[in-house]
Amino acid sequence: MKILGIESSCDETGLALYDTERGLLAHALHSQIAMHQAYGGVVPELASRDHIQRVLPLLNEVLSSAQCDKTEIDAIACTVGPGLAGALLVGTAFAYALGYALDKPIIPIHHLEGHLLSPLLAAKTPSERPAFPFIALLVSGGHTQLMQVNGVGDYVLLGETLDDAAGEAFDKSAKLMDLGYPGGPALSRLAEQGTPGRFNLPRPMLHSKDLDFSFSGLKTAVLTVVKQECQRGELDEVTKADIARAFQEAIVEVLVSKCLQALKQTGLKELVIAGGVGANKQLRAALNTACARRKVQVHYPDLQFCTDNGAMIAFAGALRVQAGLADLPLHQDYRFTV
Ligand code: KG4
Ligand code: ZN
Repeated sequence: MKILGIESSCDETGLALYDTERGLLAHALHSQIAMHQAYGGVVPELASRDHIQRVLPLLNEVLSSAQCDKTEIDAIACTVGPGLAGALLVGTAFAYALGYALDKPIIPIHHLEGHLLSPLLAAKTPSERPAFPFIALLVSGGHTQLMQVNGVGDYVLLGETLDDAAGEAFDKSAKLMDLGYPGGPALSRLAEQGTPGRFNLPRPMLHSKDLDFSFSGLKTAVLTVVKQECQRGELDEVTKADIARAFQEAIVEVLVSKCLQALKQTGLKELVIAGGVGANKQLRAALNTACARRKVQVHYPDLQFCTDNGAMIAFAGALRVQAGLADLPLHQDYRFTV
């Protein structure tokens, strides 16, 4: 079966074609980062309008690089939430119109399920995929959750952020230091040049004994340090790098510690990392070290599929078809927060 995937929940228009026999045939992505940069964040109205312009050319690009005709599409998987309403509307209206015209079924996909299953897409064969059940850390711009994944569509929420998401904390802290948009990757690059130990930032809820997170206090701590350094007239590039370093170390320590706690609590030995913050080099390095020591296998998506893309949506659709779950109404069978 060939499943078309459509993603348009925020500032990326992503389309892809996944074949249940042959794997990912093609994918195409347009990022709106350059357009939103001038405003320091995503402008929802501009995002929707841009999706409208991109979605059809991207479909044609995917079909042509997969050397397929649209009549060969067997089903259409489409992100239906969570996300920006206008942006989602473009992708879903397009998916349903195409499905109606081709007389093919629609598979509604929860955006987080797309992220959650994306590390399985990295395996060359199904036998190399992490085996269910496993622990998943979902760290994106909008969510931070720890899940026990028992199978496709069988997700148990173990803990989540009580306020800001990890990616949001990266972005907001970056904004406090004028690092541009999106702030996460910029802050992370700057942190590599920072000196450890100059600033010491809090590790919120590190010892809370549950699997919840809280990052808004960390962001406020960054604000306090930034203000202090500004008053001293010392918010130069070196100081920014040192603050970035301290921030990244704090957030990585909390994320790694909670993953280990979830593994210990459940006795599971496989960990999957998903979402945009999963691209973070320091997080990957710290997880690799901690997991190797405990004989835990850790899996990541390809870097290109950490942030939003159509491939993860097509793939989630394919897994749902294979699991016989393609027709379920959204949200009925799993408990993601929206
Ligand atoms: O998963 P995603 O595309 O967005 C949501 O679905 O919410 O992830 C975007 C988030 C942004 O907050 C971005 O700053 C962050 O992922 N991000 C990173 C890195 N790359 C992307 N954060 C830290 N380090 C990175 N290398
Ligand atoms: Zn996302």
